[in-house]
Amino acid sequence: MQILLEFAQGPLFRLAFGIMAIGLLRIFILDIWGAVEAYRRAGDKNIPWAKTVKKSLGWLFPIKRAFGSRPFYSLISILFHIGLILVPIFLFAHVNLWEKGAGLSWVTLPKTWADYLTLSTVLFGLALFFGRVSVKAASYISRKQDYFWPLILIIPFVTGYLCANVGISSSGYQFFMLAHVLSAEIIFVLIPFTKIAHCVIMPLSQFVVALAWKFPPDTDEPISISLDKKGIPI
Ligand code: HEM
Repeated sequence: MQILLEFAQGPLFRLAFGIMAIGLLRIFILDIWGAVEAYRRAGDKNIPWAKTVKKSLGWLFPIKRAFGSRPFYSLISILFHIGLILVPIFLFAHVNLWEKGAGLSWVTLPKTWADYLTLSTVLFGLALFFGRVSVKAASYISRKQDYFWPLILIIPFVTGYLCANVGISSSGYQFFMLAHVLSAEIIFVLIPFTKIAHCVIMPLSQFVVALAWKFPPDTDEPISISLDKKGIPI
């Protein structure tokens, strides 16, 4: 088990993390590339920068939307995302591993915050899952992966919490740590190929819309012909 764990924490971690980083970079570059191409062909080159920055901030910090049409669901989703983002990046045990392996370090969360955020992420993840399963209207707009992501994402939280806080035997610890690392690595590899890629697309989305959602200068003629409306004032 120890050898398996070392393999999972070493070479397999580097491979999974590399796939995620390169996959997300690819999406980022393709998005920017597509938007710039569309902008180059566009007739109207005017970009409302201030409005676009404001909209992007609204997506990144959805305080206003939380009190919109589905306030309860939005609030649970926001609270779920807080732990989901903060714990893996700022947990002391993780930063410590980065420092030992790559000489990199940054600020860390106090242990009690990490514990509360871990428990809240598990709780809100379960609430999202059961909310989706029990609300009939949600089934019309849900794909299979929408149901399973909250459950998959909480596995490293549950296993990490067990290792860090529950007095288990040393073989039990190794078992749960292996499950912890492998579940995280499966998530890393899946991220660029699934809806979770929105973590890089989301901040860009409003800029892409502003840049790309424009018609090339000579499109009005073909559009009016294809709609059989040529010469008719709109
Ligand atoms: C999706 C990625 C990951 C998430 C969400 C995650 C989450 C967590 C959580 C919630 C804890 C316990 C926090 C607490 O209450 O103290 C933890 C602990 C830990 N994690 Fe992760 N983790 C992830 C990936 C990894 C990876 C890839 C490794 C190793 C290569 C790792 C190694 C550790 C270690 C060593 C601990 C400390 C266990 C202890 O205190 O004995 N984690 N993690």
